[in-house]
Amino acid sequence: MTEPSAATPTDAAPAPTSGLENLLTEARRFPPSPEFAAQANATADLYSWANADRTTFWAEQARELLTWSTPFTQTLDWSDAPFARWFADGRLNAAYNAVDRHVEAGHGDRVALHFEGEGGDTRALTYADLQREVSKAANAIAALGVRTGDRVAIYMPLIPEAVVAMLACARIGAPHSVVFGGFSAEALSSRILDAEATLVITADGGFRRGSASALKPAVDEALAKGAPSVQHVLVVRRTGQPVEWTEGRDVWWHDAVEAASAQHAPVEVEAEHPLFILYTSGTTGKPKGIFHTTGGYLAQAAYTHLNVFDLKPETDVYWCTADIGWVTGHTYVVYGPLVNGATQVIYEGTPDTPHRGRWWEIVQKYGVTILYTAPTAIRTCMKWGEEIPGQFDLSSLRVLGSVGEPINPEAWTWYRRVIGGDRTPVVDTWWQTETGAIMISPLPGVTEAKPGSAQVPLPGIAADVLDDDAKPVPNGAGGYLVLTEPWPSMLRGIWGDPERYKDTYWSRFPGMYFAGDGAKKDEDGDIWLLGRVDDVMNVSGHRLSTTEIESALVSHPWVAEAAVVGATDETTGQAVVAFVILRGDATEAAGSDAATVQQTLRDHVAREIGPIAKPRQILVVAELPKTRSGKIMRRLLRDVAEHRQVGDATTLADSSVMDLIAAGLNKPAASSD
Ligand code: WT7
Repeated sequence: MTEPSAATPTDAAPAPTSGLENLLTEARRFPPSPEFAAQANATADLYSWANADRTTFWAEQARELLTWSTPFTQTLDWSDAPFARWFADGRLNAAYNAVDRHVEAGHGDRVALHFEGEGGDTRALTYADLQREVSKAANAIAALGVRTGDRVAIYMPLIPEAVVAMLACARIGAPHSVVFGGFSAEALSSRILDAEATLVITADGGFRRGSASALKPAVDEALAKGAPSVQHVLVVRRTGQPVEWTEGRDVWWHDAVEAASAQHAPVEVEAEHPLFILYTSGTTGKPKGIFHTTGGYLAQAAYTHLNVFDLKPETDVYWCTADIGWVTGHTYVVYGPLVNGATQVIYEGTPDTPHRGRWWEIVQKYGVTILYTAPTAIRTCMKWGEEIPGQFDLSSLRVLGSVGEPINPEAWTWYRRVIGGDRTPVVDTWWQTETGAIMISPLPGVTEAKPGSAQVPLPGIAADVLDDDAKPVPNGAGGYLVLTEPWPSMLRGIWGDPERYKDTYWSRFPGMYFAGDGAKKDEDGDIWLLGRVDDVMNVSGHRLSTTEIESALVSHPWVAEAAVVGATDETTGQAVVAFVILRGDATEAAGSDAATVQQTLRDHVAREIGPIAKPRQILVVAELPKTRSGKIMRRLLRDVAEHRQVGDATTLADSSVMDLIAAGLNKPAASSD
């Protein structure tokens, strides 16, 4: 067995996530049951079909799974690589594909969304309801001046109006930019500015951990920083909290949408028309506006949702627990399931409100058959104990999915045994905001599953693991994950920054897409993901940039310098640990109180980025370990944060620094909430 670090020798080499050290010794195998295999949507011949002619394979998927107002005749144009054009001469509308065509096909009475509010309020929207609501909302936002091509920012809790708002934008061809409701006013502001949004759709607030939490004030604060492009703010009343109102700018959703006509003709757009922008953390301080276009994205969203989850739209009840603020919510709450005509559950709240069995109660109540969630949630449930899910009837479940970070074999087998009753396939799905849809995953009726491994590229997808010299590694060895062929739902770029797109993804290994993940091939050639190899952390399946948090820290007047690392955490995968050097006068200002420094800086990061970015620990140090060229050696800091013997420090400009840091650590300083 080769050490992952042998193939990832950069300073930013990944720290193995909990349990991953033992990955390749994992010998348990879970083949699909004959009953499952016999009824599965995807069979093994999908691989040979796709391998025989990848382009034609995708063209057939796109024709089969989508309704085109103008059929395409060209499949892939890669002549201007890495800028791809898929199905470019075809025209279609995303909302029509997600909603209207199901009503036209006679499925208007099928429930599209079972909404479960945190407080227990529920609503069911059929496809006919959705068609009416989306049409009204499209008319309402058009009346507010939104035109095809304009960008709309959406900052909402997970309520049906959020899905309606996204589809209303898609209906008029106005790319949406959803900003996770947990992000700060500061983060919202920078995203609104970068996308030059003309409209912001928000809510007074949402319900979180048993109480109303406000959203509208963050929008007011973001716009107060200056946002010349924004004409209007459309506000859904969800909690009934009092809100400040800017006359002429702010409009209530219930006034505008309820008064609007329910007739709206979806705008046909070109396949390459942008559908959405979604900001994600990169290795620099500035988040990247990843943008996706319509035809290719929808084709792969539908294809993966149908085959990876084995969806049967007439009988399944599907539930993906992601928020619409992340790509998982875009592809596997909104576009994939709705384009496939699925019935799904959406839930506003947290898994432990009002009790730790809430998720399982929801599974039982709606008879959920397919569940898609993140390893961090599974590990949290493991910690709470299996007697909690044991109190509910989970026998409706037939497929379980995992996404967002590597799933350790223990969590995988627990998920299958305790939640899946030892009978359901578990699919570990690897993908990214940039890939738009699932790329590497078992097929539940075909693949003999290995706990902890995403295993194989889906039919139509080509991936490899390369060493530093861009050579594919042999089985049993590790390196960098790359995608070697373009795919329909690939990002089309970084909004407004084509050079950064080329540099970030296409320059490390020319001609290939560099994912930023470390990976290994096992003896069978199956792929095991090992975590990021760049300065990106993964905390509870959410992507955070070390540099972005460092920038937030140094923007505080007390901080002279900061270095942030992702340290292994049993539940969240990684946790943010910050090392800071304080300015001379800061110690005085803080009254030399370590707890005050910690609290102040943690709150500051929450205000600058959002509570998810709050460091678990902030350690005040006198120096940071740097190379002679001035680069911070995060690898050494990670050793400290993970309480390991500090590794090779010979390239440090001043090798005594690590002794100082380690000595400082023996003083009690840590805290967390
Ligand atoms: C990063 C992408 C994909 C939707 C949610 C996250 C990590 C994602 C897996 C998996 C191991 C995974 C990777 C990737 N990741 N899924 N099944 N096994 N790692 O989207 O925020 O764009 O983050 O999440 O490191 O690069 P994202």
